[in-house]
Amino acid sequence: MKHLIAPSILSADFANLQRDIEMLNQSEADWIHVDVMDGVFVPNISFGFPVIAAAKKHAKKPFDVHLMIVDPDRYIADFAKAGADVITVHYEACTHLHRTIQLIKSVGCKAGVALNPHTPVSFLKDVLQDIDLVLVMSVNPGFGGQAFIPQTLNKLRELRQMAKQVNPNLYIEVDGGVGIQNIASLIEAGANVFVAGNAVFAATSPTQMISELKNIKTSIQQ
Ligand code: DX5
Ligand code: ZN
Repeated sequence: MKHLIAPSILSADFANLQRDIEMLNQSEADWIHVDVMDGVFVPNISFGFPVIAAAKKHAKKPFDVHLMIVDPDRYIADFAKAGADVITVHYEACTHLHRTIQLIKSVGCKAGVALNPHTPVSFLKDVLQDIDLVLVMSVNPGFGGQAFIPQTLNKLRELRQMAKQVNPNLYIEVDGGVGIQNIASLIEAGANVFVAGNAVFAATSPTQMISELKNIKTSIQQ
């Protein structure tokens, strides 16, 4: 499968969100990444349901919602209603992860699980067959524009190997510090969905950058 590009609107201009969503509609972006932060699970607060629902009205692409919040079960149905197509929860925030995954599926969304940089991919062994996506954090969550953590490459290789047996269609998403300088190596390591915040929105031409990320040459057949 050709890899997917999911620009993060965390780096968009919130006062011009409609304009930035329309730019993404016209671009080669596949998904729109939506970072929700609660100020408890991560040391930052972003936005919630009214902003997501307002943005969704203008969007022509699926919403990939990354919940950096504690106890996400309380809000899964509300995020689905606000327009989420994929809902990703953090492994570290879920006491009953299996139940949370079933809840996400029950509201008609694709289910993802995110791992912080310190969490081993092996912790997902017993749910890997139940989920659509694993989001591997390549920075500590909370802020855009941070430096990529190189150990992520080993995690991606290990995860792709694990998924081959039980879930060959698993989306493996990388989030944090992704750009034109490392996307080819991340594809080669087994990832196939790429979040890009700063790389896209700080570029002179965001649409051109999205196109370059989408059409990057790699050493493997996609
Ligand atoms: C970080 C968020 C990311 C962030 C990525 O907590 O989960 O999605 O927006 O931003 P960049 O691409 O700038 O590292
Ligand atoms: Zn994210």
